[in-house]
Amino acid sequence: MQRLANLSAARTDAGPTAIEVAGLSHVYDGREGKVPALEDIAMTVGAGRFVVIVGPSGCGKTSLLMMLAGLRRPSEGAILCNGRPIPSPDPERVGVVFQEASLFPWLSAQDNVEFPLALRHAPRAERRRRATDMLDLVGLQGFGGRYPHELSGGMKQRVAIARGLVQDPPVLLMDEPFAALDEQTRMTMGHELLRIWSQTLKTVVFITHSLTEAVYLADEVLVMSARPGRIIDRIAIALPRPRTYDMMATDTFGRLRDRIWQQIRTAD
Ligand SMILES: Nc1ncnc2c1ncn2[C@@H]1O[C@H](COP(=O)(O)OP(=O)(O)O)[C@@H](O)[C@H]1O
Ligand SMILES: [Mg+2]
Repeated sequence: MQRLANLSAARTDAGPTAIEVAGLSHVYDGREGKVPALEDIAMTVGAGRFVVIVGPSGCGKTSLLMMLAGLRRPSEGAILCNGRPIPSPDPERVGVVFQEASLFPWLSAQDNVEFPLALRHAPRAERRRRATDMLDLVGLQGFGGRYPHELSGGMKQRVAIARGLVQDPPVLLMDEPFAALDEQTRMTMGHELLRIWSQTLKTVVFITHSLTEAVYLADEVLVMSARPGRIIDRIAIALPRPRTYDMMATDTFGRLRDRIWQQIRTAD
């Protein structure tokens, strides 16, 4: 509790804070004994910021994201989401998008997006309206009646984003959402995500393996060490917005990507 109180008091003049993590560590008690997965993680994400997390495979990125989503409890430490702990999933506060779109194959795109609203018995008309708005937002006007098998990989991820945003949470967490897409679709989706982000003013925490994607999207990149994952570098990405594809060819972009790469190489 003391730690939580300190966290609230520690809020700075840099604007409102969406996510605050302090002293977070996690040890899995697995079949092969104890696995220290995360160690002394501290991070602050300002409201409306786009923060990207990179780090070697198995360093605890997904574990951290699950904790931010209230899907898993850390062994130690505190998480505040908009000033309050998040002991269990709350899609009105935090939306989540995973690598696999994990849509229900027997539901149309529209019904997949409506699903979280149906779970909490929202009136039918409101469900329809909000899901339609979200499908419009992600560029899927007119595709609500399609079933997942009738959609491309990129379109399925658009549906997953629409579903993550349908309850209008201030925070969106994304775990390698575009990793399974071909490179061209991936670039388009990154660009689309920035458009959606700037239209909706969400706070985004985004995990990726792609350093190009990290630099292209982020306000700030957090680099994690190999397991147990610690944050070993925080790199501000001062490229102007809106971001454009041309920026990728600039020296600044290359230097930023290089710095992240050097950190990851030594972290592994
Ligand atoms: N439920 C679990 N039980 C035991 N160990 C786990 C569990 N989930 C993840 N781990 C281990 O914790 C470490 C971090 O996993 P994860 O968070 O998925 O890393 P990342 O997303 O960075 O690849 C890995 O070594 C993984 O094997
Ligand atoms: Mg992972």
